[in-house]
Order: sequence, then C-alpha cells, then structure tokens
Amino acid sequence: MTRETEERLLRCALEARANAYVPYSHWAVGAALLAQDGTLFPGCNVENTAYGPTNCAERTALFSAVAQGKRRFAAIAIAGGRQGEPPASFCPPCGVCRQALAEFCGPEFEVLLVKSEGEVRRHTLGELLPFAFTPASLAEEGDAAHAHV
Ligand code: THU
Repeated sequence: MTRETEERLLRCALEARANAYVPYSHWAVGAALLAQDGTLFPGCNVENTAYGPTNCAERTALFSAVAQGKRRFAAIAIAGGRQGEPPASFCPPCGVCRQALAEFCGPEFEVLLVKSEGEVRRHTLGELLPFAFTPASLAEEGDAAHAHV
C-alpha cells in the first residue's frame, strides 16, 4: 500500500464515523475497506432498538463491498470512540467482524486501528484471529473453497 493510499484509507475511516447511527451506545465507529483494485468502501455501525440487529462498521463496509461485486481486499482501517469526540483509544474489531473478514481475507490482510491520521496501530488478520475457521476448513483434500475466487 502506498503512503497516499494509506492516508486515503485512514481519512475515510475517520470520516465514516460521522454517519454512525448510535442512539443506544453513543459509540461511533467508522471503517474503510480497501479492495485490491484500490476501491474504498466506507462503513459505520448501525444500531437497532432491539439491540441484536446492530451491525458493526466493519461488516457494513464488507457487505457493501461484496454487494458491489468485490471479494478481494488488502486492508481495513477502523476508528471508534465516543460519539462527537475524536477517538481516545484504538478500537479493535469484535470477534464476529474478525470472522466475517476471514471469509474473504487471508492472514496477511492488514487491520489498521486509527486514533488520528498520525496515530495508527497495525495488525494482520492472522494475528487477530489465529487458527481461523475459513472456507478452506470446509474444503475436502485441502482444496480452496469458493470465496477467494
Ligand atoms: N462496534 C463496531 O461497530 N465495531 C467494532 O469493532 C466494535 C463495536 C459497535 C457496535 C455497537 O454499535 C457499538 O460499537 C458499541 O458496541
């Protein structure tokens, strides 16, 4: 990823927080998913009065990208914190989002946690979700499954 692409990615995640619908937790999360062709997909968390249907920012970005025909991704940036304030800490992706990303992204996929454009914590999906259950886990005789095609 070039420096310019990374800057776009970080800014996109920070800006996506503005659209978070968070009347219950007041915890606004923005995500930006970078497809391998360079396209950026923003996402925010969308809460629900029944709580359970709430969707995290990362899955909003992922499902938007898949719905628009993308399945190959290089990185995601995530920025989260109290609504109306800049992030005060690094917001890690929840376990469900780690699993959702593992459907399409390998262990080298980059996960950038963002406090500000100058404060970034870098991980890989392999670090955050070791020994993941992936499409390859279901495949017979080690064949790669459909999702990475
Ligand atoms: N949330 C995300 O959107 N992404 C994360 O990585 C962690 C949690 C959301 C879900 C809920 O709307 C709010 O943050 C508080 O849990």
